[in-house]
Amino acid sequence: MNYSEQYQSRLGTLEGALSMIQSGDTIATPIYGNEPTQFLKQLHTIAPRVEHVSLWTMLMMGDYPVMTDDSLKGRIDIISFFYNNNCRDGHATGRYEMTPLNLHSVGPTVVETRRPTVFVAAVSPMDAHGKVYLSFDLQATLECLEAADKVIFEINPHIPRVFGETALPIECADYIYEAATPLPLAPLAPSSPVEKKIAEHVVSLIHDGDCIQLGIGGMPNAVGEALMDKHDLGIHTEMITSSMGKLLRAGVVTNARKNFNTGKTIGAFAWGDQPLYDYLAENTSVCLRRAAWVNDPFNIAQNDNMVSVNTAIQIDLTGQVCSESIGPKQFSGTGGASDFAYGAFHSKGGRGIIALASTAKGGTISKIQPTLSPGSVVSISRNLVDYVVTEYGIAKLKNRTVRQRVENLIAIAHPDFRAELRKQADELMLW
Ligand code: COA
Repeated sequence: MNYSEQYQSRLGTLEGALSMIQSGDTIATPIYGNEPTQFLKQLHTIAPRVEHVSLWTMLMMGDYPVMTDDSLKGRIDIISFFYNNNCRDGHATGRYEMTPLNLHSVGPTVVETRRPTVFVAAVSPMDAHGKVYLSFDLQATLECLEAADKVIFEINPHIPRVFGETALPIECADYIYEAATPLPLAPLAPSSPVEKKIAEHVVSLIHDGDCIQLGIGGMPNAVGEALMDKHDLGIHTEMITSSMGKLLRAGVVTNARKNFNTGKTIGAFAWGDQPLYDYLAENTSVCLRRAAWVNDPFNIAQNDNMVSVNTAIQIDLTGQVCSESIGPKQFSGTGGASDFAYGAFHSKGGRGIIALASTAKGGTISKIQPTLSPGSVVSISRNLVDYVVTEYGIAKLKNRTVRQRVENLIAIAHPDFRAELRKQADELMLW
């Protein structure tokens, strides 16, 4: 059969795809631009005829009934590695399970422990060589696809071809259907004055020729915006962001001085604005690879002058970082926070930066605390934390004693909380 015949022989409907799901199946879907939106919008409709179906996912983009309808419990439940608002709200119902993992090990681990039986993804239209493209999300996508018994593609004409480990032969699908869905967008939001001040401090730690990673949340975007005057930056990152797109289009990122994957922008997934997606399309200088490789701390560390910039919910005076829970309540996930902290720590000339506002909740809570709030998850060990930055300055923690860390962190806490932090540090004998 030629490619067109192979395509036609697999082509069916969304209803046909849904009818392939049976009781006991574990369904895996990628997210961002590869989220199979039409499938997920209708997945709840099969609930009356199935039980014990699991849907494993991460930061799902859409608000689908399958994520929000509590009556589906026991019929279709959710396993996640990274909570979004639906998971947070629904956690108490028992429909959601959280699996703590560093991103680089999600793909290999999921296949060993909760092997997906069905894989469903939105992909680009087939090209002249019989290939479709998983252009936006390779976090654990390829491992799930390779392990699944049934593979279903939602062919979306809005998905461009992005290069890397993204091309798949149409033969690997058991079933396909066509559905045109706009891509999920993450436009650049204007940075707040506090974020701009923090970004100024962070940018003072980044030099021309460095290789950067920027994480998720408002802060790393503010840093991206503030890097416009740098030269010859490189990118080895988990997420390719809108702000990185801006740096790439402006020629601030050239990847020319990278010693590892010279000339290439390396990422595991992309989520941003339309100009970013237009830049990534058919661009041979962009290489998307599976997170098991991109986020492998030993690969990250092969980049000299690797600078990782992530944010956090809370940090204690000794340097333990919580970026994923508010007390015991799961807020997001570890993602690549620890992977990149480790990689940057071990990179020749590398720097790991945790950039966070000094306070939360309108200035009523200090994000720097004597100890983490009870139940908080330690996302990054204090042994891996290098710099912490707030709007009040930069605290160096790497190779610093606990006493020095306490001094350095109190110096960048909000002035309203410094006296209380000193008092509590005394009581806990942290100095
Ligand atoms: N105490 C209580 N609440 C806090 C808090 C604190 N110390 N710090 C933050 N919050 C609340 C905020 O008020 C906000 O609540 P709201 O949604 O009700 O307004 C919420 O937590 C999120 O805070 P915000 O600062 O807006 O988060 P963000 O969008 O900038 O994301 C993280 C920050 C840390 C949650 C996010 O970066 C994350 O999930 N990181 C983990 C993964 C990671 O770092 N990966 C790195 C590679 S991509």
